[in-house]
Amino acid sequence: MPNTVETTSMSETIVRSVEGLRVTVAAWRRDGKTVGLVPTMGAIHVGHLSLVSEAKARCDKVIASIFVNPTQFGENEDFDAYPADEVHDVRELSDAGTDLVFCPGRDDVYPEGFSTIVSVTGVTSGLCGPFRPGHFDGVATVVAKLLLQCLPNVAVFGEKDYQQLLVIRQVARDLNIPVDIIGAPIIREADGLAMSSRNRYLSVDERALAPQLNRVLADVAAAILTKPSDCQSICRNAREELLELGFMSVDYVSVCDTDTLDLLKSYTGSARVFGAARLGTARLIDNLAIA
Ligand code: PAJ
Repeated sequence: MPNTVETTSMSETIVRSVEGLRVTVAAWRRDGKTVGLVPTMGAIHVGHLSLVSEAKARCDKVIASIFVNPTQFGENEDFDAYPADEVHDVRELSDAGTDLVFCPGRDDVYPEGFSTIVSVTGVTSGLCGPFRPGHFDGVATVVAKLLLQCLPNVAVFGEKDYQQLLVIRQVARDLNIPVDIIGAPIIREADGLAMSSRNRYLSVDERALAPQLNRVLADVAAAILTKPSDCQSICRNAREELLELGFMSVDYVSVCDTDTLDLLKSYTGSARVFGAARLGTARLIDNLAIA
């Protein structure tokens, strides 16, 4: 039913087609409403809902999208296992004040013959880039499409995926997509673990260890304020500490410029510390500002 707008008994509105989305957004525009977009892959948690609140604070109407985007998953990644519960997700998003949930099908996003890739250089060269080849192309392509389909005033993304946020800013700037890309703070569990749809892959023991990633990154940030020219050795020690604690592997612990993500040997004022490490089948990422 590609063109229908579904209204459930709880008045949650799901739209599955681009045409349906454009009709609704056009009606809002005629009424002078501003529109905010929150793209997600579902498996909704409080971190996602904080983005909805941010969009609501800035716009009259909020659209959230749910689409598990196959092109941003690597061959050995968790696309097939990615948690999907549309009923739960739509309910959560609606309860948080989302006006419309856009749930396109795979063929709507990538119809037969689809052959365009949006590929960003520069900010993708470090951090997760080399460890997830093709990932940011998939993200940039699907987000460019979502922005052009909704044409929102504002789109909100989490600093949890800080590199992704900068990739999307670059796409909007380079392709002249008229939207404000807003970065929202990381929502954490009480013990410091950054909320993530993938945390549900953690066993009880892995879950107990997982907040150490945030703790180690916070220690790195504190150590760098004390010894600003020692970024490399502080990060090397942090990688070793994570392995000693029981993380299976550490992709990186790095200090990078806040805007360019250039790797820094010395801290000079505007930087974040980034980490990615594996625990069981989960790959955890986190970052925080050094200040
Ligand atoms: P997903 O992992 O579902 O995340 C959707 C949005 O929620 C992203 O902007 C992400 O940074 C944000 N988010 C996730 N955990 C968060 C947390 N703990 N605190 C704050 N924000 C958090 O990121 C994606 O989906 C996809 O790559 C997408 C942008 C939808 C493109 O497919």
